[in-house]
Amino acid sequence: MTQAPSTALSPNAAFTPRVFSGIQPSGGLTLGNYLGALKRFAEMQDEGFESIYCLVDMHAITVWQDPVALANQTREAAAAFIAAGVDPARSVLFNQSQVSGHAELAWIFNCVARLGWMNRMTQFKDKTAGKNAENASLGLYAYPSLMAADILLYHATHVPVGEDQKQHIELTRDIAAKFNHDYGVEFFPITEPVIEGAATRVMSLRDGTKKMSKSDPSDASRINLTDDADAIASKIRKAKTDPEPLPETLDGLKERPEAKNLVNIYAALSGMTAEAVVGEFAGKGFGTFKPALAELAVAQIAPITTEMNRLMADPAEIDRILGAGAEKADAIAAPILARTQEIVGMIRSRAR
Ligand code: TYM
Repeated sequence: MTQAPSTALSPNAAFTPRVFSGIQPSGGLTLGNYLGALKRFAEMQDEGFESIYCLVDMHAITVWQDPVALANQTREAAAAFIAAGVDPARSVLFNQSQVSGHAELAWIFNCVARLGWMNRMTQFKDKTAGKNAENASLGLYAYPSLMAADILLYHATHVPVGEDQKQHIELTRDIAAKFNHDYGVEFFPITEPVIEGAATRVMSLRDGTKKMSKSDPSDASRINLTDDADAIASKIRKAKTDPEPLPETLDGLKERPEAKNLVNIYAALSGMTAEAVVGEFAGKGFGTFKPALAELAVAQIAPITTEMNRLMADPAEIDRILGAGAEKADAIAAPILARTQEIVGMIRSRAR
């Protein structure tokens, strides 16, 4: 996106454009998180959007987390945001649990969302596939309702995310519309997902049909934002491919998921279109393409890793940034939550 979106014809005309997005601090961040989310976060901030970015620690504990590790991973994720270009002076950056409105609005949305809607959520099905779903936490099941609360607590109009979050944003829209309808108000915006660019779904380096994920048991399947230059280059060198050279056009990548994934990663890192990348490498084999991709990935990721390490050397400063961000977030959220409670009929006579 190169310009602020027009709101003139959208159902959100009455709302100031505002960006919200979040990342779970459950394990290290990957190249998928960077290209699908973090890079876009910094770009949207630089395009002049009012932006609110959140480390969603309450979402993380829907699956048990080691408490010490969770706190450290939350700091590390905050460092990744800053290293990727999110400026805490221009964007609001905080961790979810410091703003109690997320939990309060989520409860109200639990009473708006329908069981049938939750039952259709593919991410819950994926996360419990092959496991005993009866043993999953209630929080994991209700997760999308908390996500709707994250977004709507700030009346966010735009949410940059990767492809895998699309269904959750659709649910957020359904919850907003049902709330507005049930209470006869036009209070919540119908939020737009922003799923843009060549890398909205970065795939595993070992299997081009699976999403690159921090929870994949194989470390070789992903590039972590904490990997050093050697690790990045070696994972790209060893990435699964096929023996064919790169084709002349994108059509030639249709049945070649691993090759397509590497082309998309190259495109997203270089700012080129995927068409332009195949144009440049047409007829060349992976012996040529992989070193070029490795060089590009190292040039972009290594400085982020270095900056993350520098920031992580001062955890108290990260905590201070998150605390200041939470205060700013709370100042936006508090009146929206108070008005929601009034709409629902909750008495609010105590000074807060
Ligand atoms: P999470 O923590 O799984 O991922 C954070 C962001 O990274 C994107 N992403 C990817 N993009 C491209 N390719 C990949 N392989 C890849 N893996 C992850 C995700 O799409 C996401 O944008 N439920 C959310 C967190 C959340 C949230 C929110 C997001 C909670 N509340 C409100 C937006 C708005 C999640 O688990 O993302």
